[in-house]
Amino acid sequence: MTQQTLLVTGGAGFIGSAVVRQLINASDYHVVNIDVLTYAGNLESLKSISDNPRYKFEQVDICDKENIARIFAEYQPVGILHLAAESHVDRSIVGPGEFIQTNIVGTYNLLECAREYYSKLTDKSQFKFVHISTDEVFGSLGETGYFSETTAYDPRSPYSASKASSDMLVRAWYHTYNLPIVITNCTNNYGPYHFPEKLIPLVINNALAGKELPIYGKGDNIRDWLYVDDHAKGIILAYEKGQLGESYCIGGHNEKTNLEVVQTICKILDELQPKADAKSYLEQISYVTDRAGHDFRYAMDPSKIQNDLGWQAEENFDTGIRKTVQWYLDNQEWVNHILSGEYQSWIQQNYSSR
Ligand code: NAD
Ligand code: TYD
Repeated sequence: MTQQTLLVTGGAGFIGSAVVRQLINASDYHVVNIDVLTYAGNLESLKSISDNPRYKFEQVDICDKENIARIFAEYQPVGILHLAAESHVDRSIVGPGEFIQTNIVGTYNLLECAREYYSKLTDKSQFKFVHISTDEVFGSLGETGYFSETTAYDPRSPYSASKASSDMLVRAWYHTYNLPIVITNCTNNYGPYHFPEKLIPLVINNALAGKELPIYGKGDNIRDWLYVDDHAKGIILAYEKGQLGESYCIGGHNEKTNLEVVQTICKILDELQPKADAKSYLEQISYVTDRAGHDFRYAMDPSKIQNDLGWQAEENFDTGIRKTVQWYLDNQEWVNHILSGEYQSWIQQNYSSR
């Protein structure tokens, strides 16, 4: 078989690294990881596959037109899975500028480079631009109902507005320039290698460190959680089988209030890593000021990707959260390198010589 290369943007991030590991471990694709390595990019998450000859790393900003064009020309990819983004809602509230730059301008730049490359391809049959987006573009649900592919966009945070904008650009490049695109909109992910600023890894780490477990507002906001490897599987399936111009909503019907999530983590930790004083981690829960514009509920109807592409989640929340807590207990070095900032010097030491 001839060599087939996929570009993955944001491959050093939480979900991108799961996609790269899955492509290297369970497919024949060659993978080029394009990642500028912001605070969220961590090459230690790719240690298990980084010596594989099918894997290449390019430390490049997706806004850098010259280098992105060079990468397309050099590697002649059969597709691109675009995950690079600023991804944390709280950061977007404090400083939206980088979200506009990376999520909107960066996506525009990738689309233009992909369009130029695609226009010159002799075999156009396989190329696809898969844009990875979020359920947050649909806004906030009340107590009932689900998001689906036909839900109107109603983003309400700088993060979700920037992702919604990028989705619109991707669709426009399909309709206007016939660029072959597929979009995925997934619910909240959790699992190994998750940067400890998001709810689940933050709570696990704070619990183990004896710190407060901050719950915004009353803890009754609802998120629909999906184990990260199930999302990665959906993204690869969207590349291989997704219909051009279509979007696919991904979720596993695991709706939980934030309080339920935090209580579940505490109970698992009480069992797996009991405290010396025999007190419960539940006592560390602390209710703090609510997030500005906090979306109340997200919940997804994933029927289309299930029926049309045969996608199914392997983990439910009970199995996935237990695996995740165990992973953090077993991988404290990975976490400590992030908390101490050491992961960035690890990257310099291990990559400056390559
Ligand atoms: P992350 O923050 O963990 O990782 C983002 C990665 O992108 C990092 O490695 C970072 O270095 C890289 N990056 C950022 N700006 C870049 C730039 N300008 N050029 C090149 N690389 C850059 O994010 P994540 O949670 O893995 O999310 C990945 C994608 O999935 C995002 O597009 C996000 O919107 C989407 N998504 C995330 C979730 C979730 O729950 N985390 C759910 C649905 C969709
Ligand atoms: P987060 O992991 O930031 O994901 P998102 O905002 O993209 O859904 O937050 C998940 C939920 O947890 C969200 O409702 C906000 C809440 N939250 C807390 O209650 N405390 C925290 O410390 C964090 C980071 C989030």
